[in-house]
Amino acid sequence: MASTRNDLPAKTRTAAAKLLNARLADALDLESATKQAHWNVKGPHFIALHQLFDELHSNVEEHVDTIAERITALGGVAHGTVQAAARTSSLEPYPEDISEGRAHLEALSDRLADFGKNARAAIAQAAEFGDADTSDLFTAVSRDVDKYLWFLEAHLQADA
Ligand SMILES: [Fe+2]
Repeated sequence: MASTRNDLPAKTRTAAAKLLNARLADALDLESATKQAHWNVKGPHFIALHQLFDELHSNVEEHVDTIAERITALGGVAHGTVQAAARTSSLEPYPEDISEGRAHLEALSDRLADFGKNARAAIAQAAEFGDADTSDLFTAVSRDVDKYLWFLEAHLQADA
């Protein structure tokens, strides 16, 4: 950890950086999955899904940046390479052999929900070691996940 004038205790900053790096790996993994879906989706709803998956990508990308920059703001090192994310992501690997819209909606919903569950858990974990700002960061993340999970699942909840 870098030395800093930040008044949070080093122990808190170290714990926060570790938690943030774990969720950064998930977020990077999810970010690449949204592009995989954006590029490869096929079917009658192509253009709507192609655009929705890109919008989700932009949202996840913003959170990736916020998470990574909080790590460095606290004096930590952000492990933001694709290789680091692949090593430590807690998400299931994204299937590379699907094309149908529904299959991508389900694969993305599964991973977005797991990411959201971990982000929501991180709110309480960060509060426990005394970093209210990291709690707040993950509150914003999980609120967006809830919204985009709705956007994805709305396609799956009708019988049509
Ligand atoms: Fe594109």
